[in-house]
Amino acid sequence: MTYLSKKIALACILLLGLTHSWAQAPAFPYSIQKEALADSAMVVTAHPLATQVGLETLRKGGNAVDAAVAVQFALAVVYPQAGNIGGGGFLVYRSKEGQTAVLDYREKAPAAATEKMYLDSTGNVLTNKSRFGMLAAGVPGTVDGMWEAHKKFGRLPWGDLVTPAIELAEKGFQITEREAESLNGERFNFIRQNTFTPAFVKMEMWQAGDWLIQKELAQTLARIAGFGREGFYGSGTAKLIVEEMGKNGGLITYQDLQNYRSVWRTPLEFDHKDLHIITMPPPSSGGILLQQMLGMTSNFPLKEYGMHSTAAVHLMAEVERRAYADRAMHIGDPDFWKVPMKRLTDPAYLKSRMADFQADKATPSKKVAAGDIKESEETTHYSIVDAAGNAVAVTTTLNDSYGSRTVVAGAGFILNNEMDDFSAKPGAPNLYGAIGGAANAIAPEKRPLSSMTPVIATKGGKIWLVLGSPGGTTIPNTVFQVLVNLTEFGRSLPEAVQAKRFHHQWQPDKIQIEEGALSETVIEQLTGMGHTVEPRGPMGRVEAIVRLPNGRWQGVADGRGDDSAAGY
Ligand code: GLY
Repeated sequence: MTYLSKKIALACILLLGLTHSWAQAPAFPYSIQKEALADSAMVVTAHPLATQVGLETLRKGGNAVDAAVAVQFALAVVYPQAGNIGGGGFLVYRSKEGQTAVLDYREKAPAAATEKMYLDSTGNVLTNKSRFGMLAAGVPGTVDGMWEAHKKFGRLPWGDLVTPAIELAEKGFQITEREAESLNGERFNFIRQNTFTPAFVKMEMWQAGDWLIQKELAQTLARIAGFGREGFYGSGTAKLIVEEMGKNGGLITYQDLQNYRSVWRTPLEFDHKDLHIITMPPPSSGGILLQQMLGMTSNFPLKEYGMHSTAAVHLMAEVERRAYADRAMHIGDPDFWKVPMKRLTDPAYLKSRMADFQADKATPSKKVAAGDIKESEETTHYSIVDAAGNAVAVTTTLNDSYGSRTVVAGAGFILNNEMDDFSAKPGAPNLYGAIGGAANAIAPEKRPLSSMTPVIATKGGKIWLVLGSPGGTTIPNTVFQVLVNLTEFGRSLPEAVQAKRFHHQWQPDKIQIEEGALSETVIEQLTGMGHTVEPRGPMGRVEAIVRLPNGRWQGVADGRGDDSAAGY
């Protein structure tokens, strides 16, 4: 038997389910566990079945990276709004011994992309073109990212890590009420953006307990299990993607797929008080913003102010305003744009940035700087520690909820709409009222600017915290606030994660607050200082793990979704 025919045989075996070593077919109701305590290992993800897959992988002797790969593929099945193989993400790793690594598997603009591709003949932005359908999709990075992570750090055989996802797709799983609502909400978009009826559309409306079966996705996953990277960027899958592009003016070519490579970048690492933080450099803005915001607050007695007090929210909003203004001007794909990282994170610069801060008055954003923020809020994060003490933090995305809503016919997966994370036109307001800058202009093979902020923090040389969240531009603020809740306001991890959050992103010039985040008195006082305070829906969905003083791991899954933690 040739190498290739062996691989094909393996793929067929996997698909037929003859080597099922993973536990039983998933049962409903699965339990959603918001908090877990464990001595050895912990997994926290956006879906209980993905958490279960990660935990099983660890129990079978896999390490944190093996579990991360298995979780990524499982999420592509059970959490289709953001779990993906048609998108991208960032992985942050720290070994027990202290080796650190970050992997950028962010999508790239196709080679045929142009700076003005989302403008009409009079120069107006065609928002729908960067948000829906094939033209919205960047070249997916997820499968290459998982392949690279596994090649460098993985221990279990590749095929074993994809098998649970194949089973979930092939046999199906029962959806929760939240998932049913979410799929029903997108019914119209799924019908409009596809030339066939994808698995996400049912004759009747979805209800909790309905089975979601994804046969074509199972076949794609089987090709990935059998052929690795080539099972996606070559073979039948690439053909199906390119065919899909041809149906409606998409730009991704076979060459784009073949050329896609994820990148091991230099981790962004910095000290903050007694913590050492390891996070993502550009093309994410998240790490820089986190360092800036922690740095800018470090000379103020936040602890004395107290959580959600007027003084604390005012200071944090002013810090957020300044960091996001810098993001707009200065941060883009480092392969295309010189990001002044050193300058942006220099303590003297951060101090000077706060020179015009007034303790009793908001600084209007128009007096702060110029730039842009954009991004949709649907993404997902997972945090893992293994029994050896290695940790992985992954934030992964299709951009919007269900990305472009376009499913690759015959391949069963959703394509991202990450092209919308670029600035379609400098100075033009986007969907969120923000304006764009040159650092993040579209160019062939460039990566769009991200806000994803996967974090591993150590204390005294040992892993202390693994943390991250979805939420588009709100991500750095969510991560910032959870860290401040823990370190300054003395909250436990469950309290820090479940606490209500607020968001300032420089433009639009307002503090957005989750319902009930601030008392009426605090809102009145902030308004009196010149802030505009506006309610918004839930912000972020944090998946976090902390090492407790007694050495045990505590996993916390955000109460804002079906997120679930489990350990052993
Ligand atoms: N698409 C969300 C982000 O990359 O931040």
